[in-house]
Order: sequence, then C-alpha cells, then structure tokens
Amino acid sequence: MDKFAIQGGVPLEGEIAVSGAKNSALPALAACLLTSEAVTLDRIPPVRDIATMERLLEHAGARVVVDGERVTVQAAVIEHPEAPYDLVKTMRASSLVLGPLAARCGRARVSVPGGCAIGARPINLHVSALESLGATIHQEHGYIEARAPQGLKGGEVRFDRITVTGTEDLLMAAVLASGETVIHNAAREPEVVDLAALLIKMGARIEGAGTSVIRVTGVERLRGAEHRIIPDRIETGTFLAAGAITRGDLTVTGCEPEHLGAFLAKLREAGVEIAKPSATAIRVRVPGKLQSADVTTEEHPGFATDLQAQFMALMTQAEGISILTETIFENRFMHALELARMGANIRLDGRRALVAGATTLSGAEVIASDLRASASLVIAGLAAHGETLIDRVYHIDRGYEKIETKLAGVGARIRRIS
Ligand code: EPZ
Repeated sequence: MDKFAIQGGVPLEGEIAVSGAKNSALPALAACLLTSEAVTLDRIPPVRDIATMERLLEHAGARVVVDGERVTVQAAVIEHPEAPYDLVKTMRASSLVLGPLAARCGRARVSVPGGCAIGARPINLHVSALESLGATIHQEHGYIEARAPQGLKGGEVRFDRITVTGTEDLLMAAVLASGETVIHNAAREPEVVDLAALLIKMGARIEGAGTSVIRVTGVERLRGAEHRIIPDRIETGTFLAAGAITRGDLTVTGCEPEHLGAFLAKLREAGVEIAKPSATAIRVRVPGKLQSADVTTEEHPGFATDLQAQFMALMTQAEGISILTETIFENRFMHALELARMGANIRLDGRRALVAGATTLSGAEVIASDLRASASLVIAGLAAHGETLIDRVYHIDRGYEKIETKLAGVGARIRRIS
C-alpha cells in the first residue's frame, strides 16, 4: 500500500491547476448508458473512482475509449444491466447506474452498497424515487432488482431529505420515462446542474436544475453528445486550504469560484485574503494571524461536507475555538483523531468538533480513513514540523489526480512511497 511522506513547513507558492470534478464525471459517465450513440466527455479526471465507473460501464456492455482526459462511451447494446458487488463495494456511487439502466432496459440489478467509513449511506431514497416512476423493486441476495417492463412513467417525487446522487439517479431515470416528472426537494449542487446540461445536450427536456424543483418531460430516446465536465470545487477548496495553512501565496487555476461561495466566505472570516485574478482563478494569502471560524455543513449552496475535514486542518492553526458541526454524515470526523495525533487540540461532541488553536503540529505516522479525511491529513502535514507519513493513500487516489505531483509543483516536499 502506498504512503505519502511530507516534510512540512514550506509555504506553497505559484499556480496549481484543478482537474474535472469527480462527482460530476461519475453521473456523466452513468448517463452514457441512456443512449446507444457515442457520448464524448472531456475533462474526466483520471482517478480511481472514474476507472471503477468505466469498468462498470464495460461490464454492462459499453465500449469505453479513454484518450487522456477525453472519454468516449458507446453503449450500443446493454448486455448486463447490472452493477456487481465487487465493483459496488469499492465505490458507492455505482448506484448511479440504477436509474439509467432501469430507464433504458426496463430492468436493473444493482448490488446494495454496504457500510462506509463516513456513515450508513443507504440508497432507500433512490429506490423509493424509482418506485414513484412505476418500477417494481425487490431486494434479494444483496441486490436491488428494479423492473419496469412497460417502461417508466413520469410522476411526482418529493425527497424526504436532499440527496445528491439520489437526485441524479432519478433525473437519469425520468428523462426516458413517459410524461412529466416533478422532483421536489432536489439537490442544488453544481454537479446536478452539470448532469442536466449533459442530458439536455443528449436531447432531454429538463427545467429547474440548480433549484429545488426540477421538471422533466420524458422523451423517447436520447442521442450522442459532447460535454466538458465542470472543474472540481472540492479539489479547489483543498488546494486553497493548503495554500492558507502554509501561509503561502497560491493561485488555484482552472476553477469555478462561484461554486465555492460558502467556503470562500469562511476562509475570509478566518483571515485568509482572497483575490480573483481572473474568472477561473482564486489566489490565497494570509496577511496576519488566522482566526477561528465556526462552520456547519449543509447541502449546496451551504458549506460542503466534502470540505469540512480540510477546513478542520486549517482551523488547528487559527487563534481561538472553532466549532465545526457536521449535519450530512454521522461519522465524518475520523480525521480529527489523526489530527490530534499530530498535536491538534480537538474535542468531539456528537456531531460537533471543537478545535482549539493555534497548536503546533508535529509530523507523525497517520492513517487515511476516507477520501476527504486523507486530504485533511495532507494539509496538516504540509504545516507540521518534521515528517508526516500518511498510510493508505489509496483513499486519496480515489478522488484526487496526482495530488503529490501537483503540490510538489508549488513547492511542497511530498513524495509517494510505493
Ligand atoms: C454525494 O454523495 C457525493 N458523492 C459525496 O462526496 C458527498 O459527500 C455527498 O453527496 C454530500 O454532498 C458523489 O457525488 C459521488 P447524499 P451521496 O445522498 O449522493 C442520506 C466525496 O468525498 N441518504 O447527498 O451518496 C445520506 O446517508 C463523496 O467525494 C439517505 O438517507 O450523498 C446522507 O446522510 C463522499 N438515503 C444524506 O442523505 C438515501 O437513499 C446526504 O447524502 C440517500 C442518502
């Protein structure tokens, strides 16, 4: 298993480029199952979760051609409308194929995802949404089987709670359902908007993506299209936190500042100076001391749960007590215990973490427990005295493209030990 070795204390300086958004690329790839024609997606990040989704599409019978960041998928015929356990167990987002397969084939068989480091993460909302479109669903032998032999029928769906991939799954089912579907309490994440943009290029009729009510008028078939994935807002936020914690002068390029409103506001509150040298760049510097800032994670446009761990690492270097409240996942503080091993003063109280700073971090051997927790340990390692050794970096490889190469390019002393 690979590790990262980081020598902390070097301010990050220069420009660092972001990749395409993993969480946008995943549903976009799943959407390719909705048509027999070729779909070409650009700015697909070559990260492990994407490779898993590509294997899933191939398993279904699609042809997948990868040319750098351009990926062309043609699902001329779907041979196996299913997501087998060995793929689903490595990536929960595999459930994103449930909606498109049910819509295209009238049946889908998807392994039920098991537990996950950050919480229970059930897919009951995906299932009941599909039932509202007329699918019959059975669970047996660890698989969910959806059947709609006469095709799906549009309907009213009101999600009990906001779910990002649940909204995406339903959207992909509704575009080929007969009649109109109205999705209430839909997720408003930029990744949902990006998926809708792709589906519209493929011929879908969708209104309201980016708001909490999405209306879809089903069409008989979709066609091929070309689409460029949005920049990764979570990778952007991760780099901004890294620039700030090292008190560097870092410009993140190729990003979409509008997708990071709540995060940028909290960075400012913490004393980070933020400039936008261009429409697609954000520059961070820290002119004085970092100050504590409280954060409550929320659905978009609130503060993203996927940036909570990175912000916690930053708050270990801020004066005062920061209260971080996690409302989306019940167990997303695994990084706190590892940060504490590096000298951070953090107390956990249910869904709240109290971070008292500023503390001196010292390099230690730590273990990455999930994707964003790993990112927070990298950030902490960049600010710590001495060497930090991060074990199980396969978690970070799931969602960050060559993070060590990118960070080394702006001065970080980080290397991968294979
Ligand atoms: C997406 O996961 C992201 N993944 C996650 O990013 C992100 O943390 C999460 O949204 C929240 O923003 C992808 O886009 C591939 P949810 P998703 O359904 O869709 C509960 C990362 O680090 N829920 O919006 O699975 C659920 O347990 C990953 O890149 C149900 O109860 O999250 C959670 O408490 C991690 N039943 C809440 O809803 C369901 O059927 C929101 O989860 C579905 C969800």
